[in-house]
Amino acid sequence: MPSYVVLLGPPGAGKGTQAELISEKLNLAHISSGDIFRENLKNQTELGKQAQGYMNRGELVPDDLTIEMIKDRLQRPDCKEGALLDGFPRTPAQAEALGKMLAEWNGKVECVPYISVPPKELVGRLSGRWTCKEQGHVYHETFNPPKVAGKCDIDGSELYQRDDDKAETVERRIKVYLEQTTPLIDYYRKQGVLAEVDGTLPIEQVTTLLLKAIEKG
Ligand code: AP5
Ligand code: MG
Repeated sequence: MPSYVVLLGPPGAGKGTQAELISEKLNLAHISSGDIFRENLKNQTELGKQAQGYMNRGELVPDDLTIEMIKDRLQRPDCKEGALLDGFPRTPAQAEALGKMLAEWNGKVECVPYISVPPKELVGRLSGRWTCKEQGHVYHETFNPPKVAGKCDIDGSELYQRDDDKAETVERRIKVYLEQTTPLIDYYRKQGVLAEVDGTLPIEQVTTLLLKAIEKG
């Protein structure tokens, strides 16, 4: 039976950082909805063009487009054993749709680690973030600097700052998260699969706590 883990948490909580560190250990494909949208934007696909305005404003891309995209992605061969979802679902409608599609494939959401970080810490994390152009690996100029400034340790590609990491867009993203995504904390708690992890700890400690939570779940 395929296994699905959903990483929940605000923008800048460390979902991408942690998914990169644990997906291999769990033998699950790392599926980041934000990374897929950014890839489509870069290649100016139809989906990328449709998503662009929402992303630039720090708003959510409409549910129907997002659900369709994830459904398609989860049916690729690398998700045969399941997936580690990062950034999806983010609305109750997306969570319902995910539950339905997984049931069709005899799977279910097994564990939802919720990486909690208070809003006041998020702005500093996002303004100091540098992301790799090729594969989206994530660094921070103070908390997790690359070995060589401006270059990705893993694939050597150039690092850039995301357009939506500007202060005013970050504020909007946090507001949208609080309004539209936080209901999922209770949604998954009621299903008995939520595991809260303190995301303010250093990166390695968060990784250890996440792996423990997922093993238990
Ligand atoms: P997306 O790319 O998913 O952005 P996000 O959820 O806002 O999350 P981030 O990627 O900003 O943060 P993260 O939690 O991954 O943190 P990271 O590990 O990088 O979405 C972008 C946009 O796409 C959305 O606004 C929306 O428009 C659209 N979209 C995506 N999914 C959608 C959906 N399902 N529905 C509709 N629209 C959707 O870490 C952040 C920084 O902190 C880094 O610099 C890192 O080095 C540092 N850091 C990490 N952990 C620690 C730590 N423990 N201590 C100190 N620093 C740390
Ligand atoms: Mg991310």
